[in-house]
Amino acid sequence: MTDSSNNHSKAEAIRKNQITSNIEPPEGSEAIRPEPSGLFVDNPVDVAVLKQLEGKHILEAGQFSYQQVAELCKLAAVLEKIEVWPYHPLDGKIAVTAFFEASTRTRTSFESAFYRLDGKVISIADGSTTGQAKGESLADIGEMFNAYADVVIMRHTDTNSPQQILENLRIPLINAGNGTGEHPTQALADWFALLKWRPQLAEVYQPRDDKLNIGILGTPGSMRAVKSFLLMALLFKEHIGKVTVISEMADPFGADVTEQLKHADIEYEVSNDVREHLPSLDVVYMNSIAFLGDAYKTMDGRYKLNAESPLKDSAVILHPLARLDELDTSLDKTQHNLYFSQAHGAVFIRQALLMSVLGRLDTLPDFDEIKPMNLK
Ligand code: CP
Repeated sequence: MTDSSNNHSKAEAIRKNQITSNIEPPEGSEAIRPEPSGLFVDNPVDVAVLKQLEGKHILEAGQFSYQQVAELCKLAAVLEKIEVWPYHPLDGKIAVTAFFEASTRTRTSFESAFYRLDGKVISIADGSTTGQAKGESLADIGEMFNAYADVVIMRHTDTNSPQQILENLRIPLINAGNGTGEHPTQALADWFALLKWRPQLAEVYQPRDDKLNIGILGTPGSMRAVKSFLLMALLFKEHIGKVTVISEMADPFGADVTEQLKHADIEYEVSNDVREHLPSLDVVYMNSIAFLGDAYKTMDGRYKLNAESPLKDSAVILHPLARLDELDTSLDKTQHNLYFSQAHGAVFIRQALLMSVLGRLDTLPDFDEIKPMNLK
């Protein structure tokens, strides 16, 4: 991707600044932090696949192909292993993070990702500080952002907000959560955690008997993170034995998810009995907070897990967070805790996405050169 002398000096920079990782679990914790290199050592990143994302809006989980998700996760694993600043991948690029709804993780991990890639960020942490307070439309706000930035990362309480801003926005929009709609980059973070845990998920499926049984404790029709996780799961159907959705609702999907499941050729079941299914699950995805109507509400909060819950020894738990008491802190130091790895890894998967959307993949040297020097 770059000439060899340039590559050499960058390689030196990497050696001198060997991996820094502040995301190891505290001493005494058995929480899982899977080793990222398992994803790319024998399975190099296919940059051509990632270039398909250049200039694209990122609006929903189902817009990705299986290969795109796998390659994004592999690049994210590389980015987690190397010190990336010597390459200045987003030098000269500006993001607007426009959050019209509260966030701890999504805004700050996007901003961290952007800054660590040497880009600059215009941060709107509270939409009420924009012209929206005077009644300005999202369409007009979008027209302004065209001149101020190279990408817009937006969260909004209104499910229809992406369509509204896209009336005039001509730079890429990344949907960071829209009402009861979707949260596609959360799904990328979810599956990145799972692919690091089980790297064979990034390989074309070979018949074997280790297909995953996935349980979802939540209501995809009303909870955007749960919905995007489920829709991205459809891309991995070859690797999945069954999806069990455990919800308080008799119909937890809504019309569009039902339609997609109908065509997905994946085995799934709906239940309201968590104890019946928990002992057979390999992956448990849970959530309880949803923005419904005009306020946060709790759904499926009666499905609570703690360190005494009858989980398989090898089972892992994912949770997009924030949590209430459905995910007890007694699980934090157990081998079931993949949820902190899921949250921490979000920086790297968002870096991989930003570099792809903004057309900056060529700033990295050949992955073959990066690969061997960063293995522990
Ligand atoms: N997972 C997630 O979307 O978290 P935040 O609401 O804190 O951004």
